[in-house]
Amino acid sequence: MSEKDFIPKGKSEKAEKGEITWQSPSNIALVKYWGKKQNQIPANPSISFTLSNCHSTTTLKFAEKEEASKNFDFSFYFEGKKKEEFRPKIQQFFERIENYCPYIKEYRFEIHSENSFPHSSGIASSASGMSALALCLMSLEKQIYPDTSEEFFRKKASFLARLGSGSACRSIEGGLVVWGEHPEIENSSNLFGISYPYEVAPVFKTYKDTILLVDKGEKTVSSTVGHDLMHGHPYADSRFDQANENLRKLKQILKSGDLEEFIKIVESEALSLHAMMMSSLPYFILMKPNTLEIINRIWEYRKSKNIPVCFTLDAGANVHLLYPQENESQVLEFIKNELVAYCQKGHYICDEVGIGARKLTMDNG
Ligand code: DP6
Repeated sequence: MSEKDFIPKGKSEKAEKGEITWQSPSNIALVKYWGKKQNQIPANPSISFTLSNCHSTTTLKFAEKEEASKNFDFSFYFEGKKKEEFRPKIQQFFERIENYCPYIKEYRFEIHSENSFPHSSGIASSASGMSALALCLMSLEKQIYPDTSEEFFRKKASFLARLGSGSACRSIEGGLVVWGEHPEIENSSNLFGISYPYEVAPVFKTYKDTILLVDKGEKTVSSTVGHDLMHGHPYADSRFDQANENLRKLKQILKSGDLEEFIKIVESEALSLHAMMMSSLPYFILMKPNTLEIINRIWEYRKSKNIPVCFTLDAGANVHLLYPQENESQVLEFIKNELVAYCQKGHYICDEVGIGARKLTMDNG
């Protein structure tokens, strides 16, 4: 599919007024997206586990205006309070999707969003928030173009979410999601995420992710700035090759359930992501001393107990502990005994692989 396939065609109907609510999860990348081209095209393919407990719930209230206006007409509320500081991000999102959703200037929108995780947890809400908003818009689009198929609905929701925030396109489907073209993954696309289409060993279907909140502060470097620093980065090309190669290797590992090899790829990806940040200009370090303490503890524990627990990192200091469900009780003991001490206020969030976004309500008032 190409970009122009996402411009709606066919018979349209009137959708005057109503509201739609979607709940959309966060996701954690195993092979990381870091570096992009124009129009939110990733520099390399990535794959993630869709999460379950960390999610955003977004309601889109829409009312058709007498006449389409020149500007986008919306207000944004976060956890019940009007938030002007989020407006630029949504304004930019609307600008990027206007071509594909030509009806948006015909409506006045009120957007209400909330997260299941604390805003100040250092967990990025752009993936869950943008995917939920994209899904709400697709529900409106389906009212205008009733012929929209279920398949097109989900693909376009991912396509739109990507234009809001790259990683958001991996938050529509559940399980494992691939975004970005890879020669050995059929139907993979730079334009939207797809459900990982090959055999997956049972162990990965119920994988656990406990997020250790090391630093709840605002990110010192936004992802957008970080991605930009990959332009002209001395190691960019080899990093993009490495990600492609890691995804290729992962295909076999996901099938066989070889956790030792899985761990090598996942931890190496996390450290490579941070190595890119440390070797860009300007350079920066997003890990905190406690991030490293936790990593060292995980390595010691894994070696001594022979339990396949590993870590991954996002563009921040928090540590995601990934492990099979069957090791849950031992790992939770380990967290309580050894790792909580390195978490801010002892906080951590237990999550696991989830089933993807779901529609909560729809009301045509
Ligand atoms: C480190 O999706 O937040 O989490 O497209 O600029 O919104 P934008 O970036 P974003 O980048 C996420 C980067 C990452 C790795 C990943 O999720 O693959």
